[in-house]
Amino acid sequence: MKVLGIESSCDETGLAIYDSEKGLLAHRLHSQIELHAQYGGVVPELASRDHVRYLLPLTDKVLQQAGLNKQDIDAVAYTAGPGLMGALMVGASTGRALAMALNIPALAVHHMEGHLLAPMLEDNPPSFPFIALLVSGGHTLLAQVQGIGRYKILGESLDDAAGEAFDKTAKMLGLGYPGGPILAKLAQQGEAGAYHFPRPMTDRPGLDFSFSGLKTFSLTTWQKAQAAGDDSEQTKANIARAFEEAVVDTLMIKCRRAMQQTAIKNLVIAGGVGANLRLRESLQQLVEKEGGELFYPRVEFCTDNGAMIAHVGCLRLMAGQREALLIQTRARWPIEELSAL
Ligand code: KG4
Ligand code: ZN
Repeated sequence: MKVLGIESSCDETGLAIYDSEKGLLAHRLHSQIELHAQYGGVVPELASRDHVRYLLPLTDKVLQQAGLNKQDIDAVAYTAGPGLMGALMVGASTGRALAMALNIPALAVHHMEGHLLAPMLEDNPPSFPFIALLVSGGHTLLAQVQGIGRYKILGESLDDAAGEAFDKTAKMLGLGYPGGPILAKLAQQGEAGAYHFPRPMTDRPGLDFSFSGLKTFSLTTWQKAQAAGDDSEQTKANIARAFEEAVVDTLMIKCRRAMQQTAIKNLVIAGGVGANLRLRESLQQLVEKEGGELFYPRVEFCTDNGAMIAHVGCLRLMAGQREALLIQTRARWPIEELSAL
């Protein structure tokens, strides 16, 4: 079975074709970073219009790359949520229309399930059960994954998502958009131990997160330095490093707790912040200590992409999932509502 996947939930247009026998056949991505950079963040209406511009040309390109015609596709999978409503509608209506024209099924895919199962696109895929740390621009959650569609939320962010905290802190430090990777790069120049930031919510039991305080902590640290006449790049880098270390350490502490509570040794990192190298290193050390194994997708499949959507669509299609002729989109969609396979 060959499934065309469409991702358009935010600022990336992603297209891919996943084959149940051969795996990923082709994938293409158009990033809207340049479009939104001048506004310092994603402008939803511009995002929707750009998806309209790129969806069909990219569809042709992935088909070409895979050496296929539209008629060779067995189903279309599109991101139905969570995400920006207008952006989702572009992918959903295009995907559904394409499926109707070709007389094949269309499947509404949950964006976070796409992220969660993205490590399975790699050569050494994780086996169930595993603990998943899903850290993106919109979500931070720790889940116990028993199987496809069997997700138990162990903890989540009570305020800003980890990626959002990176982006907002970067903005306050006057770094560009998208803030996460830029801040991470600057942090590499930071001196160890120049500042120590708190590890929020680690001094009490539980697996929830809170990152908005760290953002404020960064701001007041930066303001104090400036007031003392120090607005050097080095100080900025030191703050970036202290912030990154605090986020990474907090995530690691909660992952350790989740692994110990559940006695599950396999850990998966997914979502855009999963591209963060300090986080990967810290979690690698953790699993080595705990006697487990760490799994993550290649960097380009950590952030939004079409491959993860085609992949989940294919798994669900193979398991017999079929849907009514609806164009489904949901700005909010708890992952625990998904049906188990
Ligand atoms: O998963 P994703 O592409 O989109 C959402 O579904 O939200 O995640 C994007 C988020 C952004 O907040 C971005 O700043 C963050 O991932 N991010 C990073 C890094 N690369 C991307 N954060 C920290 N370090 C990175 N290297
Ligand atoms: Zn995402």
